Amino acid sequence: MKEILTMKKIVKKFGTGHTEVTALKGIDFTVKEGEFVSIIGPSGSGKSTFLTISGGLQTPTSGEIQINGQTFSTLPEKQRADLRFKEIGFILQSSNLIPFLKVHEQFELVDRVSKKKEAENRIDQLLQSLDIKQLKDQYPSDLSGGERQRVAIARALYNNPSLILADEPTASLDTEHAYEVVKLLVKEAHDKQKATVMVTHDARMIKWSDRVYRMSDGYLIEETLNGQ
Ligand SMILES: Nc1ncnc2c1ncn2[C@@H]1O[C@H](COP(=O)(O)OP(=O)(O)OP(=O)(O)O)[C@@H](O)[C@H]1O
Ligand SMILES: [Mg+2]
Repeated sequence: MKEILTMKKIVKKFGTGHTEVTALKGIDFTVKEGEFVSIIGPSGSGKSTFLTISGGLQTPTSGEIQINGQTFSTLPEKQRADLRFKEIGFILQSSNLIPFLKVHEQFELVDRVSKKKEAENRIDQLLQSLDIKQLKDQYPSDLSGGERQRVAIARALYNNPSLILADEPTASLDTEHAYEVVKLLVKEAHDKQKATVMVTHDARMIKWSDRVYRMSDGYLIEETLNGQ
């Protein structure tokens, strides 16, 4: 199987001198196509730092990142932005929807930027599978936090990126919808050969994972799954 995300010896430091914090302490990590990997760990352990660095939203202090075999840091900014847009679907802790666009327009914007149109029914299918089809004509401010989160998830999956990075995608959802969201992400990974990394603090959400890692004070340690 093809490696979609490869991280080598990733270190991330914030601040200098006596305020210096080392959030990531030399991380090696790989996700292949079709894999769903979960990262758990306490608040402040470095999970979001890890995820944003893996998708190129922040740069590491040292170490190397490859997306689909391309070394991220050596690409010029324009190509880096293109790669990020085409290959990576981000689901961040805040839902990052565009406030003045209706739900269906959030997806049409993706079409416009990518200069290709997804199948007509793709939006409807995604919204349906996340139980938010009736919200198509609403603005983000008219939605609940959980509904906004689900729209953001649909938008991240919409243009079929090869890598999906999800930071606490179920944080604002009730248990039933949280399970549905994780199952949808797992299904997308397995059926469409996507590489998916999900950060969560909710241990109930990791049971469908192919691998689970624990982030602990800047180190990433693989967990042994029950029954394996
Ligand atoms: N921009 C920044 N400047 C300085 N320190 C930072 C910055 N971003 C994160 N940190 C520090 O790095 C460490 C890891 O933070 P991070 O946000 O990755 O944790 P987390 O595991 O995602 O926590 P949570 O579960 O609360 O979201 C923390 O000590 C945090 O204070
Ligand atoms: Mg976080």
